[in-house]
Amino acid sequence: MEKILVEKSPPLKGNVRISGAKNAALPLLAASLLGTEDIILEDVPKLKDVELMCEVLASLGSRVEYLEDDIIKINSANVNKYETSYELMSKMRASFLVMGPLLTRLGKTKNSLPGGCAIGTRPIDLHLKGFRALGAVIETNHGNIGAYADKLIGDKIYLDFPSVGATENIMMAAVMAEGETILDNAAMEPEITDLANFLNKLGGDIKGAGTSTIRIKGVKKLGGCRHAIIPDRIEAGTFMVAAAITNGDIIVDNVISNHIKPVIAKLREAGCTVIENGDSVRVIGSENLKAIDIKTLPYPGFPTDMQAQFMVLMTLLDGTSVAIETVFENRFMHVDELKRMGADIKIDARSAIVTGVKALTGAPVKASDLRAGAALVLAGLVADGVTEIENIHHIDRGYDGIEAKFSKLGARIYRKTY
Ligand code: EPZ
Repeated sequence: MEKILVEKSPPLKGNVRISGAKNAALPLLAASLLGTEDIILEDVPKLKDVELMCEVLASLGSRVEYLEDDIIKINSANVNKYETSYELMSKMRASFLVMGPLLTRLGKTKNSLPGGCAIGTRPIDLHLKGFRALGAVIETNHGNIGAYADKLIGDKIYLDFPSVGATENIMMAAVMAEGETILDNAAMEPEITDLANFLNKLGGDIKGAGTSTIRIKGVKKLGGCRHAIIPDRIEAGTFMVAAAITNGDIIVDNVISNHIKPVIAKLREAGCTVIENGDSVRVIGSENLKAIDIKTLPYPGFPTDMQAQFMVLMTLLDGTSVAIETVFENRFMHVDELKRMGADIKIDARSAIVTGVKALTGAPVKASDLRAGAALVLAGLVADGVTEIENIHHIDRGYDGIEAKFSKLGARIYRKTY
């Protein structure tokens, strides 16, 4: 078993380069099933989830090869399988994103129903609503879900919630459908825009990505392209919060500051100095940070994937802060672990009321999900003593070389195998 050990560290200082975005890489890899010529993806993050998605593609007949550490070449000309294995699907729910591309490419797709996870039940009803609107027949039995369509025909589709995954899956099912599809109340995350740009490079005709209405005109064929994945705004935000928590001075390189405006605004509200300079953002902490409130919302609101990390900062701010989680129904799993470290947090339904304490103390803790794991690393940086984090496979799913990046900034962080 592996654990990450974090000791109380000095203020973190220096530069850290952000990797490509996990939540862009996964839909882009799924979308590569649509291409019939070579696709080159650059700035691919080295993550467990990316490896798993590459395994899914290979199991369907795509040829996947690493040209360099962060460059992958994919050729899906001979994709001929439409079923993904339960084993792969149960490891990573994002493999559900292959349904839209397979429905388009082969007219059929069969997946095991994705399970829930620590942060919520993670339903797929909006994905299926879109597939049905485009003419697919959906069948569920024995824990599997299949979608079949002789022909996909464009339609107007309204999403009851601006679901990121549903927007992506429907876009990939509509990109070669007959006629035009209008997707209303679509998700507006930067990863959606990155996917639309990629599909257009392949030969698609998609307009409006990044707004709440996306117009997709079906095309006959999609070829190949070269595409660099956008930087990971959540990894960037995690290191920016690390500067605030340790009263440090960190320059985060390879970021698009427009993608992390809510995080920048909230750090400034708390009293940090944040300097945006091209594709770098510098965050300087302060001794007298003050209490702030956050409310997670779909983009461009405050990102739910930054809620846990911000809560660690709140535990040490002077005064009472409130974090409201509106996107997922169970995304406070990190609270009990932080309370083991001396945090003063009360949960009331979707709200966490955080009263600042003088200090946290290191303790053995467990990561429940990816961002909660990252939050525990941040807490360990400032907690007196040593924090031992278990279940770190969650962290490896979404952070490329987390110890190396933190160590370079002066953090006392080690991975130990038991
Ligand atoms: C994506 O998940 C991200 N994952 C998540 O990041 C992120 O937290 C989430 O978007 C929100 O930004 C990837 O991109 C791989 P949703 P996704 O569909 O697509 C409800 C991380 O830590 N919903 O926007 O699954 C759902 O229950 C991960 O990097 C339906 O009701 O998120 C949830 O409450 C965690 N019906 C809300 O929408 C549906 O059909 C948001 O889910 C689909 C979703």
